[in-house]
Amino acid sequence: MRSLRTTSELGLRPDAAGKVRELFDLGDELLIVATDRISAYDCVMAEAVPGRGVVLTVMTLAWLARFPDVPNHLVTADPARFPEPFREHAEALGGRTMLARKAARLPIECVARGYLSGSAWQSYRQTGEICGIRLPAGLRRAERLPQPIFTPATKAETGHDENLSFAQAAALIGDGPAAAARDLTLRLYGEAAAWAAERGVIVADTKFEFGLIDGRLSLIDEVLTPDSSRFWPAGEVRPGSEPPSWDKQILRNHLDSVGWDHASPPPPVPPWVLERTAARYREVLQILFAAEAAPWRRYLE
Ligand SMILES: Nc1ncnc2c1ncn2[C@@H]1O[C@H](COP(=O)(O)OP(=O)(O)O)[C@@H](O)[C@H]1O
Ligand SMILES: [Mg+2]
Repeated sequence: MRSLRTTSELGLRPDAAGKVRELFDLGDELLIVATDRISAYDCVMAEAVPGRGVVLTVMTLAWLARFPDVPNHLVTADPARFPEPFREHAEALGGRTMLARKAARLPIECVARGYLSGSAWQSYRQTGEICGIRLPAGLRRAERLPQPIFTPATKAETGHDENLSFAQAAALIGDGPAAAARDLTLRLYGEAAAWAAERGVIVADTKFEFGLIDGRLSLIDEVLTPDSSRFWPAGEVRPGSEPPSWDKQILRNHLDSVGWDHASPPPPVPPWVLERTAARYREVLQILFAAEAAPWRRYLE
């Protein structure tokens, strides 16, 4: 299984790098490479999880294909159609890279939640509401909500995103765009949750990013991946406790077992943890999108 921790291994120099992705600015377009880096407790590990970036990208492509009427940023993921110097690295970049239209990003994260978890659980416990939405009393952690809700958040460049009420989101981006983003977020979440539920996977929540491309509200970034969503195995959800994270639990358990303080540089991650984590990512892709992933299999082997 090949692995790519950074595009510098290929002699490339990205214009921007996040925790996972490296971006190349091509003018009107961006080349977005999902590396195999992995973070836990907000820290990036020194090791890579082989194929993780391919899973994230192939899953995004599969979801985009399921929403053909929704404008999105994808130009091509076919490495033979990338401009040089990227095309010559087709083997290393294939499956993990999207050539995308550059968008004017909405400065909010568009989150849909069908279950009570994460910051929504914290907020509910303290106030009975989340993002100004009052929820029924007596809900337990990881419980299904009466209906999916839209809980936008700021896009913090550093630190943690902060939850916004709908009115606050509308004040930031305008009433019309906020309503459009909310409606699209809830629609996409509903369709995705139904698709996943048929395959034994609960999408507890997910975060979309939208941008304007040619003036149209368009899906950008990654879509409904394990990094942007909480995927739970349907059989393991017990309201009252947090279900295991599908993908990162093995890594988190390992980090907990060695007593890491989440502040000092992360401890080394043994190969077996990386291999089992890599297998979990491939597994969820296989469960949700076996057919759609087939053309990309060579990049996953
Ligand atoms: N089509 C696009 N146009 C402009 N920005 C984009 C587009 N697609 C993704 N992005 C941005 O690229 C970055 C992806 O890098 P990533 O490693 O995921 O960063 P982060 O650590 O902030 O999540 C995000 O900041 C995202 O908003
Ligand atoms: Mg991101």
